[in-house]
Amino acid sequence: MNFETLAIHAGQEPDPNNGAVMTPVYFTSTYMQDGVGKPRQGYEYSRTMNPTRKALQDCLAALEGGNHGLAFASGLAATDTILRLLSADTHVLAGNDVYGGTFRLFDKVLRRFNLDFTFADTTDPESVADALTPSTRLVWLETPTNPYLRITDIRAVAEIVHVHENKPLLVVDNTFATPYLQRPLELGADIVVHSMTKYLGGHSDVVGGAVVVKDKELAEKLYFLQNAVGAVPGPMDCFLVLRGIKTLPLRMDRHFENAVAVVEFLENHPKVEKIFYPFHPSHPGQKIAKQQMKNGGGMISFIMKGGRDAAIKMVEATRIFTLAESLGGVESLIEVPAAMTHLSVAGSQLDVDPALVRLSVGIENKDDLIEDIKQALEQT
Ligand SMILES: Cc1ncc(COP(=O)(O)O)c(C=O)c1O
Repeated sequence: MNFETLAIHAGQEPDPNNGAVMTPVYFTSTYMQDGVGKPRQGYEYSRTMNPTRKALQDCLAALEGGNHGLAFASGLAATDTILRLLSADTHVLAGNDVYGGTFRLFDKVLRRFNLDFTFADTTDPESVADALTPSTRLVWLETPTNPYLRITDIRAVAEIVHVHENKPLLVVDNTFATPYLQRPLELGADIVVHSMTKYLGGHSDVVGGAVVVKDKELAEKLYFLQNAVGAVPGPMDCFLVLRGIKTLPLRMDRHFENAVAVVEFLENHPKVEKIFYPFHPSHPGQKIAKQQMKNGGGMISFIMKGGRDAAIKMVEATRIFTLAESLGGVESLIEVPAAMTHLSVAGSQLDVDPALVRLSVGIENKDDLIEDIKQALEQT
């Protein structure tokens, strides 16, 4: 089946009890057993598995071209569970432009458990090769990155990582692209991770995370951790993401169409210093982006000419773009990463320009969006 059909049907069957077309929200924590150790349909307890979550997990696996999907209470809960595959005194190599919360989890929490982290420019596969050590067990990539929208060649990095001694796992955070635009497992990644809070949910009404893998042994380790650690989403959250995913292809095409119009407006604007958009000719990763992504997505970042103050004035002046953290919903959002989503990287190697503005371009009418940006820029 093609992606658009999978987005609507994968993992979902009319309910066997009553024919309900949409997967019901199974609000139950536990399941009757026919005898000791004989659960009726394999379900015992909802931390371990819940039918609504199962439908979502199977749908996620199909969309990413994997065999096993896992849903979590947030993107960071998914990240944390993946990192628990590792033992103390091992090394993780991560990209030097990642979501601020990912950096905070690595740097401020997991270092205390004797995991070692270094951050490298993964857009250059050679610098990945140089930064791998004999104790590296995991390589963490975002592409496009948050907030600079940098592009890493997933296939090239996978080739380097997989010939390295001890075979580190290659993880790709696919939140910005979504499986509609990019499927990292098909390019050689071992694990795909998502904040489902963003495009997968798509309506800014749910927080969730996802992990998808191909390998059965790896999946078993992750299912064990999902149950043993317990950072699972409730059935209502799973339902909301399942519903959101049904329109993912339509939304992503429209996000792209609107983003291209906004980029065209911003590229020649006298108050804009520099623009970051993966499919823009000025982007150093444009060629790779076009190879590994179906379209350029809905995220745009740009640097304001007047520095931090101009950036703050601008984001406070929009009327349709809502000043808020997060991204990927149907509504347009705007923020200043250095002061908002990426506060935790301040002063580190991942520091973000205070004049950087990040847009999550929604699916409203593009003329209205441009008009809004135009009037906000006039006020700076
Ligand atoms: C790229 C990326 N990965 C992971 C996360 C974390 O996800 P969550 O907020 O659902 O925990 C975010 C959140 O903004 C993100 O942008």
